[in-house]
Order: sequence, then C-alpha cells, then structure tokens
Amino acid sequence: MTTKLYVANLSDIDVKGSRKIKYNDIEIAVFRLTDDSVLAVENRCPHKNGQLSEGMVCGTTVHCPLHDWKIDLRSGQVQEPDDGCVTTFETEIDRESGSIYVTV
Ligand code: FES
Repeated sequence: MTTKLYVANLSDIDVKGSRKIKYNDIEIAVFRLTDDSVLAVENRCPHKNGQLSEGMVCGTTVHCPLHDWKIDLRSGQVQEPDDGCVTTFETEIDRESGSIYVTV
C-alpha cells in the first residue's frame, strides 16, 4: 500500500535546500533542485548514517555532510569509488498550488 504525504509548498524550500519529513520510523529528505524539480531519498547516508538533508546539493547529487560521499538523488546510488545506495521516493508537485507530495 502506498501513502501520499504532503511535504511543504515549493516556495517554502530554498533552491538547493531541503525539508525533512517523518513517516513511521523513516525520515525522508526532500530536496528542491535548481530547475525547481523535487527529489526525495531516505535521510540516512549508507556510510555512517549522515543526515543527507544537511548536505550540499550539486545538480542531482547530494554530498553527505560527514565524509562527502556523493549520492545520486534520482537513483539513490552512491558514486564510485564508494559503494551503497539509499531508498528513493516518488515526488509530485501540484503546479497550481505548489504543494509537494511524496509517495511512500
Ligand atoms: S556518513 Fe555519509 S559519507 Fe560518511
């Protein structure tokens, strides 16, 4: 079963910024990219659980704030030479209201 969660309004998140939401035990980081698209991943680096929401966004990649692993926000894959992946979540923006939703 999937659930659609309201995150925030697009204008509430700075460009290259993020919002955190919780669903049960999962914390999700939702990022606004420079093209105003929005991507969401589990807010936990596969290395040592760094908070990806605190990381720097570069294109569609987030740099983990702890040890700079680079994670693709579209696929959840960690860039080589490091290895791992995070769960990604589907996002949706209602273009009329600007509301952002994540499907979990
Ligand atoms: S915890 Fe993310 S790179 Fe180490």
